[in-house]
Amino acid sequence: MSVDAAEGLMTEHDHPDHPRFDFVVVANRLPVDRVVDGDGNASWRTSPGGLVTALEPVMRETEGAWIGWPGGTVNDIEPFDYNGTWIEPMPLSAQEVEEYYEGFSNDTLWPLYHDVIAPPSYHREWWDSYRTVNQRFAERAAQLAAHGATVWVHDYQLQLVPGILREMRPDVTIGFFNHIPFPAYGIYSQLPWRTQIIRGLLGADVIGFQRAADAGNFQRAVRRLLSYEASGTTITVPTDEDGKVTSGSRNTKRPSGPTRTVVARHYPISIDALAYERLAREPRVQERAAQIRSELGNPRTIMLGVDRLDYTKGIRHRLKAYGELLAEGRLQIEDVSLIQVASPSRERVETYKQLRDEIELTVGRINGDFGTIGHSAISYLHHGYPREEMVALFLAADIVLVTALRDGMNLVAKEYAAVRYDNDGVLVLSEFAGAADELKRALLVNPHDIEGLKDTIMTAVEMPRAERSRRMRAMRKRVMEHDVAVWSRSFLRELSPYQLSRGGTDLLAVVEARPGAADHA
Ligand code: G6P
Repeated sequence: MSVDAAEGLMTEHDHPDHPRFDFVVVANRLPVDRVVDGDGNASWRTSPGGLVTALEPVMRETEGAWIGWPGGTVNDIEPFDYNGTWIEPMPLSAQEVEEYYEGFSNDTLWPLYHDVIAPPSYHREWWDSYRTVNQRFAERAAQLAAHGATVWVHDYQLQLVPGILREMRPDVTIGFFNHIPFPAYGIYSQLPWRTQIIRGLLGADVIGFQRAADAGNFQRAVRRLLSYEASGTTITVPTDEDGKVTSGSRNTKRPSGPTRTVVARHYPISIDALAYERLAREPRVQERAAQIRSELGNPRTIMLGVDRLDYTKGIRHRLKAYGELLAEGRLQIEDVSLIQVASPSRERVETYKQLRDEIELTVGRINGDFGTIGHSAISYLHHGYPREEMVALFLAADIVLVTALRDGMNLVAKEYAAVRYDNDGVLVLSEFAGAADELKRALLVNPHDIEGLKDTIMTAVEMPRAERSRRMRAMRKRVMEHDVAVWSRSFLRELSPYQLSRGGTDLLAVVEARPGAADHA
């Protein structure tokens, strides 16, 4: 942390005594969840999310700050230190939750970026709210960033932050990582504010995507909308004299004035694979896995689906295929059990309400048609579970079904591979999930093709042990060698030249200097 307020950079929003940081993360969610006990006392605990684990070493080494929404509409939470990370809660009003979070983020951008699986809604008031909230996040980042600091902005909720921040603080290095897909231009171009969003993103020095195809789609959007030169992974952005993005007067392919170089490429996110494997080796977790199998009556095949209850996940397609296999007698109810964990998500958004109704109706029908008194076809669990229970479920599952219709990465696929140190288990993986680019030895499927999905599930059920083992070994190798530490390092490596050219701290060097860093090299 640095407390020397960056001279000459004060704005009307600054508190002169505000601490300053060399590393600032800006994400819609904080890395901690607020828990209120029975007596109404609130405390904080680490969120289970992958991003928190991913950034933990960098946060620890740099004593960085994290700006995010604490959830809900409580607006009097003071910033605080949490295990060496400065937590800066960004309150949202009830109207902003409705318009910025549920509205523009999750009912406009989310469906649009996932190839319009559900129809996106376009409302001008939602866009206004998105702009206002992004402005506030950017202002807070400008207050907290030390001179020459690095600010890493995350995900589709905050795409305008890099552009606004660049205007306020040309001295900082800005990274942006998009955790969800970036759609093809033919889809993206529906967005009434398509140019503003692209300009917002181009405020960053490095823009990261999950798949090479996402980065390609973004570059095409830049070329189509702004005519900037984009070749390989770099985009040349015309700027004014102090490096700010110009508003359009020099949108030519070969600008004659000053320019900035922006890198746009893919950095597939991952998990803390070793931590998953270690947990899987714990005797108590293995006992729990055995208990799960026995509670289900030790069927020959246990299949597992683990998803946020979201229409992008293809849960309906999976249930349809499973129901048909039972109806056709290709699967026998006494031999098989499907566990579907569907964790509650965005429950006030209409599309999510409808999805829940449809899924629960389908589960009820399948259980009614095929279940017996002692055995139901599907164990449907509308809860989130702690990591340990998830690991036990992965150990218990012979087959994991990831049938997403579109997914930025899908970490469930990687978690399953990390857990199965016994080199057993079959992963059925949608080719529309980012993980399919890396886990090529999964059984890849097109989830829209129900017959193909059924055949693939049967292939998984019947796969001989030797083949299961060969495939799982290859997937595990990939996941163990490309874990989340590799991900965050490769992103920081891309930021290094920008940090050095601005006289800022090379964060990769800071992280690599810590003891034990070589373990992850
Ligand atoms: C996806 C998004 C994240 C988001 C998460 C949970 O993984 O990429 O940005 O935080 O879903 O969704 P929620 O709306 O509850 O934050």
